[in-house]
Amino acid sequence: MNEILASDLAIGYDENSPLLKNLNFRLTDGVYVLLGANGSGKSTLLKTIAGLISPLHGEVYVNGFKPHFLRRKDVARLIGYVWQNPFHGFVEPTVEREILFISKQTGVEVNWKLVHKLVPLELFERSPFTLSGGEAKRVSLASVIGLDQPIWLLDEPFNELDFTGVKVFTGIVNYARTKGKIVVITTHYPGLADLVKPDYYLLINRQSGLLVMDKWSNLSDEDLVKNEVIPRVLRPEFTG
Ligand SMILES: Nc1ncnc2c1ncn2[C@@H]1O[C@H](COP(=O)(O)OP(=O)(O)OP(=O)(O)O)[C@@H](O)[C@H]1O
Ligand SMILES: [Mg+2]
Repeated sequence: MNEILASDLAIGYDENSPLLKNLNFRLTDGVYVLLGANGSGKSTLLKTIAGLISPLHGEVYVNGFKPHFLRRKDVARLIGYVWQNPFHGFVEPTVEREILFISKQTGVEVNWKLVHKLVPLELFERSPFTLSGGEAKRVSLASVIGLDQPIWLLDEPFNELDFTGVKVFTGIVNYARTKGKIVVITTHYPGLADLVKPDYYLLINRQSGLLVMDKWSNLSDEDLVKNEVIPRVLRPEFTG
């Protein structure tokens, strides 16, 4: 079983003013959706779990390891972290090389079945930097989760995907569930997140600075609106 454990964790960029503090949670195999307002710390939390940022206080453990103390190679074998902005992650001149990049660094074989679900062959010789928004999101996802790591941290994976992309992505999350992975997805669109049948949601409450973990089905549109998250069903009265 996989495990992400946060113990008295504080995250952010300024010790004197953490974005979130006193975080204590334990995630095991399953699908989690992380919700919260713009700037509330969703991406920062994923980056902290991925070891890209050190905790300001406390600890985070991923399968017993402190990710910020692991070599990048070892983190990449354990965790697939997908950037919110795909263009922040691209380093290679072609899509094919981009997809092979982490595999070359780590020696882990690419799961081409996963990659081909997301990226059509016609894109393989293209520069990742010239891709459309949705194409770039697909390549960014494929180049990371193609390594089939036990833990996936996916920052806004639904952004810019068309409905075919959403269906493909939903199928990939279902596959992840059968493999017993931990998948954490951030999104502003709970209506789309419902499609992956999340087990739990993690909701950042900006006022209290708390991260609430609860059964997905407990989350009402009114709760979402109160927390600055777009509700599943848009009603004019929500915009006041
Ligand atoms: N490298 C950095 N240095 C200083 N502050 C930063 C840095 N990166 C992010 N921030 C700030 O930290 C806060 C949280 O940012 P973060 O990207 O985690 O928010 P988010 O919840 O993912 O927002 P969004 O919904 O817009 O994606 C923001 O106020 C942001 O401006
Ligand atoms: Mg973000």
